[in-house]
Amino acid sequence: MNADGVGATDVKAGVAEAADAVRSRIGDLEPVVGLVLGSGLGSLGDAFEEAVGIPYEGLPHWPPVGVAGHSGTLVAGFLQGVPAVALKGRAHLYEGHSAGVATLPVRVMAALGIRALFVSNAAGAINPDFEPGDLMLISDHLNLMGQNPLTGPVVAGDHRFPDMTDAYDSTLRNLSRETAVSAGVPLKEGVYAGLLGPSYETPAEIRMLERVGADAVGMSTVPEVIVAGALGLRCFGVSCMTNFAAGISPEPLSHTDVMEVTERVGGQFQALVCSVIGRIESVLQEP
Ligand code: HPA
Repeated sequence: MNADGVGATDVKAGVAEAADAVRSRIGDLEPVVGLVLGSGLGSLGDAFEEAVGIPYEGLPHWPPVGVAGHSGTLVAGFLQGVPAVALKGRAHLYEGHSAGVATLPVRVMAALGIRALFVSNAAGAINPDFEPGDLMLISDHLNLMGQNPLTGPVVAGDHRFPDMTDAYDSTLRNLSRETAVSAGVPLKEGVYAGLLGPSYETPAEIRMLERVGADAVGMSTVPEVIVAGALGLRCFGVSCMTNFAAGISPEPLSHTDVMEVTERVGGQFQALVCSVIGRIESVLQEP
């Protein structure tokens, strides 16, 4: 049993049922890339062609998302000609989900056949060279959420002790950097610290995080990347700085910053991610 009292066989069965429900809606589409679209970044889902949208509430075992009662949507189709599946909305641990439950959607995308996972999020800027509106390629993360989605019995097919040395795949990061230059999109790079939330950090916590090597802070992403590692998926990701982290600016932190800033830089984010996905197949063909 894991922390939810759920056995490894039940996880496998739940994933299989949810994947079957998705397959029954997407026909013979075989997605090779999965995308998790963070707060305010979901409009990338509108760039899909031949898109099929499936509300999460129609999918068995799917964790309900959104404190405000808005369900998310799975979008499947083609992004820049590449068969892909995107999640508009994710379950957060601060909503009360365990890390195991919150990461079921990543397992489902893996069952559908994806080989690479792109993750994105809104984050507070800690690095003094960063400011709201910056996009940051995630080079690595700090798991400070107090949970790991892999605790409990091993789910068949998982690595028990996944190597996290290259959790954010170096080849996909190279591709992202090169693409950002050619697309004219400024791209910072740094370490994402994942905290449980939902309270924002104190200034003292931000000073501590800066000292331990964090460039940005948020409340998501880390569990998904750990599960992706256990499943052998190649991962990469981008954080959108939506505010200065606590204590860096005299302004109080507010969730409305997240929406305002992601709206402002959504075009650049979309241009970058679309261009990278358009070039990803050459990387995925490599061993
Ligand atoms: N802290 C944690 N999560 C966040 C922040 C922050 O400053 N901004 C956006 N998500």
